[in-house]
Amino acid sequence: MAFDATDYRRIIGGFATGVTVLTTANDGLLHGMTANAVTSVSLDPLLLLVCISKSANAHEQVEATRRFTINILAADQEDISVTFAAKNEAERDRLQGVKYRMGTTGVPIIEGCLAFIECSVSDSIDGGDHTVYLGSVENAEVLRDASPLIFYQGEYRELD
Ligand SMILES: Cc1cc2nc3c(=O)[nH]c(=O)nc-3n(C[C@H](O)[C@H](O)[C@H](O)COP(=O)(O)O)c2cc1C
Repeated sequence: MAFDATDYRRIIGGFATGVTVLTTANDGLLHGMTANAVTSVSLDPLLLLVCISKSANAHEQVEATRRFTINILAADQEDISVTFAAKNEAERDRLQGVKYRMGTTGVPIIEGCLAFIECSVSDSIDGGDHTVYLGSVENAEVLRDASPLIFYQGEYRELD
């Protein structure tokens, strides 16, 4: 059966995921991008991957700093996901009015998220219009025992 990118989006949209915000800090310039193309890769060593569009500002930031933090969002943080799914330039001293603190690697951690994972880039491969970044886990912590935000068929959901 012939199918195109629109069909593919609908088909892969049946793969339910959690929702994260990838944060970066580039010499005082802070940035966040909503991302669900995030997968745990390895336990020894600790590795995860994230796919970032080559046209995203986040791509430029990760290329420049080789660091990022994955903030796993809770069900009550849909507004934060929407905020960081809109294009936003890196700005000094603020993260779109969202509350955050700095992590041990100097990258922002968003308040109220379920958990965060601080990474340094250990490798990257070309993935068409995205780059696949392999992140070496430097620090990670669970912050909250709450329901996760879910993305399924192009919509935000909560676990029943
Ligand atoms: C639920 C959801 C998940 C997303 N996941 C990704 C992703 O994994 N990688 C990506 O490059 N963009 C992803 N996006 C799109 C970016 O969040 C969006 O393009 C954003 O505007 C990029 O911001 P920036 O260019 O300012 O970095 C996702 C959007 C949504 C709503």
